[in-house]
Amino acid sequence: MRYECNNPSIIPHELVEMGLDGITTTILECKRCQLHENATNKVIMRGGKHPKVLFVGEAPGKNEDETGIPFCGRAGKILDELIDYMGLKENEYAIINTVKCRPPNNRKPTHKEILTCQPFLYAQIELLNPKIIILLGNTAEKAFCFSSLNWGKKVSTPDGKYFIKIYHPAALLYRRYLMEKQKEMIEINKDLWQKMI
Ligand code: URA
Repeated sequence: MRYECNNPSIIPHELVEMGLDGITTTILECKRCQLHENATNKVIMRGGKHPKVLFVGEAPGKNEDETGIPFCGRAGKILDELIDYMGLKENEYAIINTVKCRPPNNRKPTHKEILTCQPFLYAQIELLNPKIIILLGNTAEKAFCFSSLNWGKKVSTPDGKYFIKIYHPAALLYRRYLMEKQKEMIEINKDLWQKMI
């Protein structure tokens, strides 16, 4: 896996060796940045452990902070709707976030917070090993330092994964009309996961 722009060989081997359960424990104990100070729960993942498709969100919101479950609030309902539309079954996808603690007042995570949490993200991807990674919005994209992905246009990596950036579900909450465009982005890429099912 080679995503990180400044250091193309970065793979957090020590985390990968711990496995998903070890990573969970390490995230629960993490105090690498100040976000942990106000976190009620760290939000780690939901979904299958061998997903074909991995969704990467931004950061936990209020509901996620209260429950520890990613995308369990209103934006989560929209994401679930999209997952249904994609025809993915429960163990065929997983959902994680770029940062694992809720930023105060739902602000966007800073560049520094994204970089601090990045080893957890990369280790999760290494272990979950999805073929398709769907970045939900620009914050998720920043974690991979892609200079700028076009909305809905897949890019492939040397190890045969595909990244696709689509709208963050929260953007659709007040702009339902964007759902049509979101579905178009899904339609043009659906062979990627449908031919695997
Ligand atoms: N928005 C996100 O980016 N992630 C969540 O888990 C919930 C809302």
